[in-house]
Amino acid sequence: MRWGIIATWEMALEGVRHASKMLENGLNAADSMEEAIKMVENNPLYTSVGYGGLPNEKCEVELDAGFMDGNTLSVGALGGIKDFKNPISIAKNLSEERFNIFLVGTGAEEYAHKSGFESKNMLTEESRKAWEKRIQEMKDKSLSPYDGHDTVGMVCIDKYENLVSGTSTSGLFMKKKGRVGDSPLPGSGYYADSQVGGAVATGLGEDIMKGCLSYEVVRLMEEGLHPQQAAEKVVYEFSKKLEKRRGKAGAISIVCMNKNGEWGVGTNVEFSFAVATDEEEPRVYVANKDGDKTIYHLA
Ligand code: GLY
Repeated sequence: MRWGIIATWEMALEGVRHASKMLENGLNAADSMEEAIKMVENNPLYTSVGYGGLPNEKCEVELDAGFMDGNTLSVGALGGIKDFKNPISIAKNLSEERFNIFLVGTGAEEYAHKSGFESKNMLTEESRKAWEKRIQEMKDKSLSPYDGHDTVGMVCIDKYENLVSGTSTSGLFMKKKGRVGDSPLPGSGYYADSQVGGAVATGLGEDIMKGCLSYEVVRLMEEGLHPQQAAEKVVYEFSKKLEKRRGKAGAISIVCMNKNGEWGVGTNVEFSFAVATDEEEPRVYVANKDGDKTIYHLA
């Protein structure tokens, strides 16, 4: 059996490389993907995820994360959690619960505390400075406050045919306190079904959640579409629908992998992603829209 992992954005490469060694050594998909996402969460240079994530309008780092086990269809998710180090691990833990699997705000923090997860001030000096600069720019140049929603999302399959997906993000820079994007919403930000495949999304959560896009990609793979066809069809048909009904579509990018380790990408903006399988070295590609197709090349 093959193994594979695909992830949004170049920032995931180090984690994908680490996870690919774990998968090659026979570790399972859930643990390998969790480690890969934690590496992104722990790196303060990545300002849209975890430690050093960009803050909300009140200069607080509120984090969202989701985890799905494609065997049992178990889901665990968090919205707007503050001051905990690894939201993906908390979401994974929540997926083992029968009830109360999606927690927000102080409820999520209480659960994380009681479950023994490490707390940490997630606001770095650099992120605070970026917030101050943006406040000034908004005053001086009437600049839109909203930016920077580069969620890390991954789909991972192991040698034993277990398939999982997960996401982690600080969401939109300068978001309203309490705003939650697509990333923790199962079916929107991520979906996994071990008998079919998995998908994850990044981009403007407010638009992605209008179409349940990750679920839709998995559904099309179940109908027999190759992951590449499924991702392209979902991104472009939904972008067109948004343009028609609302006048514009936000950034939407999706990566997916089926149960055979075949993968695909669809995007309506320039977008990088990282992938590794038992047959492919960990690599980063840059993808772009070309009509109703997504073309990509090695970074
Ligand atoms: N896609 C991440 C967000 O909008 O929060």
